[in-house]
Amino acid sequence: MKLNIAVLAGDGIGPEIVTQAQKVLDAIAAKYHHEIIYSPALVGATAIDQLGDPYPETTHEVCMNSDAVLFGAIGDPKFDNDPKAKVRPEQGLLAMRKKLGLYANIRPVATFPSLLDKSPLRLDIVEGADMVVVRELTGGIYFGEKGRSEDLKKAFDTCTYTTEEIERILKLAFSYAGKRDKRLTVVDKANVLATSRLWRETAQAMEPAYKDIEVDYMFVDNAAMQLIQWPKKFDVIVTENMFGDIISDEASVITGSLGLLPSASVGVHTSVFEPIHGSYPQAAGKDIANPVATVLSAAMLLESLDLLEEAQLVREAVNKSLEEGIVTEDINKEKPYKTSEVGDWLAKYIAG
Ligand code: IPM
Ligand code: MN
Repeated sequence: MKLNIAVLAGDGIGPEIVTQAQKVLDAIAAKYHHEIIYSPALVGATAIDQLGDPYPETTHEVCMNSDAVLFGAIGDPKFDNDPKAKVRPEQGLLAMRKKLGLYANIRPVATFPSLLDKSPLRLDIVEGADMVVVRELTGGIYFGEKGRSEDLKKAFDTCTYTTEEIERILKLAFSYAGKRDKRLTVVDKANVLATSRLWRETAQAMEPAYKDIEVDYMFVDNAAMQLIQWPKKFDVIVTENMFGDIISDEASVITGSLGLLPSASVGVHTSVFEPIHGSYPQAAGKDIANPVATVLSAAMLLESLDLLEEAQLVREAVNKSLEEGIVTEDINKEKPYKTSEVGDWLAKYIAG
């Protein structure tokens, strides 16, 4: 198979971790006789510095022409500390989501048996936790009308959803649940918000078409509490953009290994695969960042193209590396491996 992969390495540790994922993909390509063509493109602070735009049109073209996008990270403290900055790297991310129609963000959260002691939660609470958070990504308060009054003393952000937007993400969430433990939790704030009531109404109307799925509804505050009290009770969680932003960060700490968790943003035109962590600027260029979340994102990329055996081998390589202690300093301070060493080890394991 011939694969066109857009590579948006971005800022901070982005380039280093993406390089390791490419090593892994190259090893897969060699073993299974695929041809991968990488098209690099600028995004984030790097793109602002070079072209004045965090998601330039040229980058959008590269993504549109790809089978999938491998994404590193964006963000640079020089923008965070400047409240007057006119363009910010994060705007690039939002523009990319909107223009590629990336309406669903999928974050699988599962514990790694060899790393259970990394969780801030008690072992008996987290052992066996395995869930997927499906977050709506192109609607809601992130993209609604927003502004300031003339005297600047009032500001507003509007949350809007249409039935169509809700249906398409629910469809995806139902289908994930169907392939897993067949339990779906719809998270909302239907006791307060009109948009949440539309979400609930829409989900209820869809339930009869998915008789084998057990659906429950939970207010977001309650869900935030139950997630860390009984994480095992969740299989697939589906929710709107802002709640999903918060809930998915919360869910990610259950495993205690932020550097290990991948994500996929599924789109109308193409899909984007990226680690859930940020650009970790303090570690940039030091060859110490954990590349595993990006490598597992590459596994999700392979899966999305139906290369299931290939994806499975990547996961196997990662599990083996964790068992054998081939890990970066965030996992083992006493005996840390470098970012590049972990990438080399994984590629070699795959080569067999
Ligand atoms: C995420 C991030 C983004 C979001 C920011 C950087 C705009 O937190 O991908 O979850 O809020 O969606
Ligand atoms: Mn977030």
